[in-house]
Amino acid sequence: MKQREDGSMAWKVLGGGLPVLLILGLILGWMTGVAWGDNSLCFGCHQDESLKKQDARGKSISLFVSEAVYKNSVHAKMSCSDCHTHIKDDKHAEGGQKAADKGVNCATCHGKAEKEYLQGLHSKMIMKGTERAANCYDCHGKHNILPSKDPKSMTNVSNIEKTCDRCHSNVEFVKQHALGAALPEGEFKRSVHGKTGEVTCTSCHGGHNLRSLIDPKSTIFRSNIPQTCGACHPDITKEFTESIHGELAARGRTDSPTCTTCHGFHGIKAKVDPDSPVNEKRIALTTCPQCHAAERISKEYKITTTPVKSYYDSFHGLSYRGGDTYSANCASCHGVHDIRPSSDPKSMISKNNLQKTCGTCHPGASVNFAKGKMHAVASISGQDIGEKVVGWVKIVYILLIVGVIGGLTFFNFMDWLRKTIDRAH
Ligand code: HEC
Ligand code: HEC
Ligand code: HEC
Ligand code: HEC
Ligand code: HEC
Ligand code: HEC
Ligand code: HEC
Ligand code: HEC
Ligand code: HEC
Ligand code: HEC
Ligand code: HEC
Repeated sequence: MKQREDGSMAWKVLGGGLPVLLILGLILGWMTGVAWGDNSLCFGCHQDESLKKQDARGKSISLFVSEAVYKNSVHAKMSCSDCHTHIKDDKHAEGGQKAADKGVNCATCHGKAEKEYLQGLHSKMIMKGTERAANCYDCHGKHNILPSKDPKSMTNVSNIEKTCDRCHSNVEFVKQHALGAALPEGEFKRSVHGKTGEVTCTSCHGGHNLRSLIDPKSTIFRSNIPQTCGACHPDITKEFTESIHGELAARGRTDSPTCTTCHGFHGIKAKVDPDSPVNEKRIALTTCPQCHAAERISKEYKITTTPVKSYYDSFHGLSYRGGDTYSANCASCHGVHDIRPSSDPKSMISKNNLQKTCGTCHPGASVNFAKGKMHAVASISGQDIGEKVVGWVKIVYILLIVGVIGGLTFFNFMDWLRKTIDRAH
């Protein structure tokens, strides 16, 4: 009650003044020809679908603005001149007024959005002179702007791919702007993310402040990728960042994998999809061997074994390559996102965990069962005594085979020679 009384003075002034102000406004509007929110003057000409003008290069530009579309847009209540501040009447119709030179400035009303946008790459490139990098209206539209929540909005989750692809899948456009490679059209829509209808380009890139992949502040800068995916895959990302690969990746080492090395980025597929690079049929053929079959990585990081070769020669590897998906692949023993060296007590292949790791497939596996060296290769030059012994045994074995078979062949040859000479005599 008290507040009402305090405000009563202002209430009276407003209550009494408002109709007067309104009438004054209407008269002013009628005199200047533009009433607040009444765009009939402008539509009088611009509702005409054939209204066109020529731009500086002589290209014909449509000046048609659909009243129906505009009335549905979020700015419907606004006057045209709120955006086209330099056009208040029909004087520009003769073409004397260089309207195109003074673009619409959305920031007069959307300062916060512009501030974010100015941090991003698209705006920086426009300022550097890349005319066709995305402007506010390239993503939001001009006279058809709707809140992003609206399914018809150009920035609605269901339409963003189309909005971005207009430039980024356009081969000609991409070539002109030295943008790397054109994104295959619809590639994202077919991915596991595209199919959810919840994840879109801006989930990983951001909308206004998106940055280039070489910018250390970018969501797609190599060492920031786990964090970007982690917004939606927090558990896996935690496991990964604590793993040997994650630690290396965080230090910016490019020879250690990050999420996108194994999964790809725009075309990510579910692991059960046979085309997924992490499908279980591929794990031991490409996913891990792409690095662990490389001499350079084994040498540089002093991982002394040659795990891939020895795995292929093992019973597990032989039956895996024969198509047996029950056999063990790299991930069955090492894990996937939580891979650690055998010296780490938390590792699936540390001495105290091996029995359990093998036990998932070999129920009742004893300590001794899990004891043997998994990736042993025969090598007399190896550092491992066991490998050396196997290496020598292998050499002696080969010498024996050569000796026995060679001796036998030699004996048979001499026998044949003798018989041939005998027959000649
Ligand atoms: C008498 C008809 C007429 C009326 C009324 C009219 N326009 Fe125009 N408008 C034109 C013509 C013709 C052109 C092309 C001028 C040229 O060749 O540069 C034009 C150009 C424009 C352009 C510039 C396009 C560009 O790329 O340069 C804008 C923006 C525009 N009008 C907005 C408005 C607004 C806002 C109103 C209402 C206040 C309005 N017009 C009222 C006829 C009209
Ligand atoms: C929310 C802001 C906004 C409002 C409101 C708005 N326009 Fe525009 N209009 C734009 C933008 C942005 C462009 C394109 C870029 C530029 O000219 O800076 C544009 C361009 C135009 C053009 C040039 C042709 C084209 O499509 O590029 C015409 C003509 C035009 N507007 C007329 C109108 C008329 C008539 C109204 C009122 C019914 C209106 N505009 C209201 C933002 C607006
Ligand atoms: C004269 C002020 C003004 C200008 C200039 C203006 N807008 Fe708006 N805009 C508004 C107002 C007011 C609303 C809120 C309308 C509502 O909520 O009903 C709005 C709403 C929006 C929305 C939806 C926001 C939401 O939260 O739902 C978007 C997107 C938008 N504007 C983009 C633009 C773009 C892009 C431009 C430039 C082409 C622009 N606006 C120019 C005043 C303006
Ligand atoms: C590269 C495309 C892109 C550009 C360029 C862009 N926006 Fe947006 N904008 C979006 C997307 C996508 C969203 C909604 C989702 C989000 O928050 O990421 C959005 C959200 C908004 C919103 C919040 C209202 C809503 O509908 O969610 C406003 C207001 C807005 N933008 C204004 C602007 C203005 C002003 C500019 C230019 C200074 C601009 N945008 C440039 C893509 C863009
Ligand atoms: C799941 C996250 C994710 C989604 C969703 C996503 N991107 Fe990307 N995008 C990335 C990553 C990560 C990179 C960096 C790849 C690299 O390291 O080469 C990238 C790179 C890019 C590049 C730069 C390519 C180059 O060669 O420089 C463009 C452009 C791009 N994305 C556009 C899009 C568009 C458009 C969409 C929606 C259709 C989209 N992205 C959806 C994660 C994503
Ligand atoms: C009007 C065309 C246009 C639209 C629409 C557009 N972009 Fe771009 N984008 C560009 C241009 C041009 C560049 C390159 C700027 C440069 O480096 O010269 C760029 C750069 C990028 C880059 C950085 C590429 C790199 O080299 O690292 C990413 C990522 C990107 N855009 C994503 C998007 C996303 C996501 C959308 C939709 C929300 C989008 N773009 C909409 C024109 C566009
Ligand atoms: C060394 C390669 C590698 C790296 C690095 C990697 N992944 Fe994976 N990821 C895989 C493999 C292999 C599978 C399939 C595992 C299986 O068959 O259960 C997988 C499965 C997944 C799944 C499906 C999980 C499920 O159980 O359904 C998601 C989600 C995933 N990864 C996200 C990520 C994210 C996020 C990152 C980065 C933080 C990442 N991955 C890093 C190889 C990798
Ligand atoms: C905006 C949230 C979001 C972001 C960001 C995101 N994802 Fe996803 N991801 C999802 C959703 C939702 C699914 C589908 C859930 C499902 O069906 O399992 C999914 C599914 C996946 C799958 C398939 C899981 C399977 O069934 O095998 C992989 C792999 C994956 N994401 C990896 C990534 C990687 C790598 C990144 C970063 C480059 C990333 N995601 C970023 C939300 C996200
Ligand atoms: C992009 C290359 C790359 C891929 C793909 C990759 N790794 Fe690695 N991995 C490395 C590098 C580099 C190290 C060395 C880290 C160190 O020792 O500091 C490493 C370390 C390891 C280690 C610990 C070795 C040790 O003694 O420290 C194991 C175990 C391992 N990786 C298994 C796997 C498995 C299993 C896969 C497949 C799911 C895989 N890696 C995929 C590059 C890769
Ligand atoms: C049957 C279980 C099993 C399979 C399958 C397996 N590993 Fe191993 N791996 C081990 C064990 C146990 C060790 C510990 C050292 C040893 O016994 O040789 C090891 C050691 C390693 C090491 C050295 C790491 C260290 O800390 O000693 C790397 C790297 C490695 N494996 C990669 C792979 C790759 C790549 C594959 C698939 C091609 C694979 N492994 C398949 C069990 C396995
Ligand atoms: C993902 C399941 C899986 C895991 C984990 C696994 N194995 Fe196997 N293992 C198999 C299958 C299936 C075979 C039968 C392969 C064949 O057809 O010869 C096999 C065969 C063997 C054999 C050959 C003799 C026999 O019993 O057939 C040995 C020895 C063996 N595994 C040891 C191990 C050790 C040690 C570990 C742990 C470091 C281990 N396995 C982990 C699935 C697994």
